[in-house]
Amino acid sequence: EEELSLRPQALSHYIGQTKAKENLAIFIKAAKMREEPLDHVLLYGPPGLGKTTLAHIIANEMGVAFRTTSGPAIEKAGDLAAILSSLEAGDVLFIDEIHRLPRAVEEILYPAMEDFCLDIVIGTGSTARSVRLDLPPFTLVGATTRAGLLTAPLRDRFGVLSRLEYYDAAALTEIIIRSADVFRVGINTQAAIEIAKRSRGTPRIANRLLKRVRDISQVRGETEISKVTTELALDMLQVDKIGLDHIDHKLLLAILDQFGGGPVGLDTLSATIGEESQTIEDVYEPFLLQKGFIQRTPRGRVATDQTYKHFKRPLPGNEQIR
Ligand code: ADE
Repeated sequence: EEELSLRPQALSHYIGQTKAKENLAIFIKAAKMREEPLDHVLLYGPPGLGKTTLAHIIANEMGVAFRTTSGPAIEKAGDLAAILSSLEAGDVLFIDEIHRLPRAVEEILYPAMEDFCLDIVIGTGSTARSVRLDLPPFTLVGATTRAGLLTAPLRDRFGVLSRLEYYDAAALTEIIIRSADVFRVGINTQAAIEIAKRSRGTPRIANRLLKRVRDISQVRGETEISKVTTELALDMLQVDKIGLDHIDHKLLLAILDQFGGGPVGLDTLSATIGEESQTIEDVYEPFLLQKGFIQRTPRGRVATDQTYKHFKRPLPGNEQIR
């Protein structure tokens, strides 16, 4: 399937994330030399940077089976117990959005991660007793948007903590050229660079934009995706020159125009622009913070000088420090 081959299957084909990749390569090699499963791995960072892809790659590199689930999908302790007791020695169990595991479910993970065993209660009331079942050794790979969302006891049981970073334009350009190859479509290098610049440091966004640019290029009868078509397509998609999209604009303009540049609280902002607070916090803010378009203060979010400049607004008087 097209979507799957977009994801690299080996660490050596995975572009960018040099630090995470180097570290994982060593830990994987050492675990294989000892013929042991890899220690549990927590992958964290903004959405779309390749956490799921890396989890797959870990299983491939270890030569073991990949099992996948997610925090919100596991409602009861029994659901997780069933998954754990069906694992084979060495398997990778991937739990996406692991910060959303219900508390009761999380508690059965502790002995499973630490001692590869399952504590289950049989019966109720005075006849209730606890039995301990052995599990095969396995590797838990957890993914979350922020490590801080995990409870401390869960976070402490991961041996490897790996933070994924936004990609630079060079790495994204390489990914776009690779993806175009997977799609069997030609792309001009300048066109690939243009998509890279507008992808918010995020491969998932780069690949999505590439698909839409490809559609427009195809309809225009091009033999390869040109820079002119790319610019036209991205403008049509309301992605600005530095990759801010319609929602980034709504968010920043609300701070500028409705709240005088801030500070404004997250929930107020959420209600004003009609986006979930959680989505603003996990998806939009991390990039805007990193690029210096907003700052977080104890009283809420404030716009920066750069934000005023980006939207060609006069800077407010310096009665406030920005
Ligand atoms: N496709 C999506 N993310 C990728 C990455 N990091 N390397 C190569 N191809 C990718």
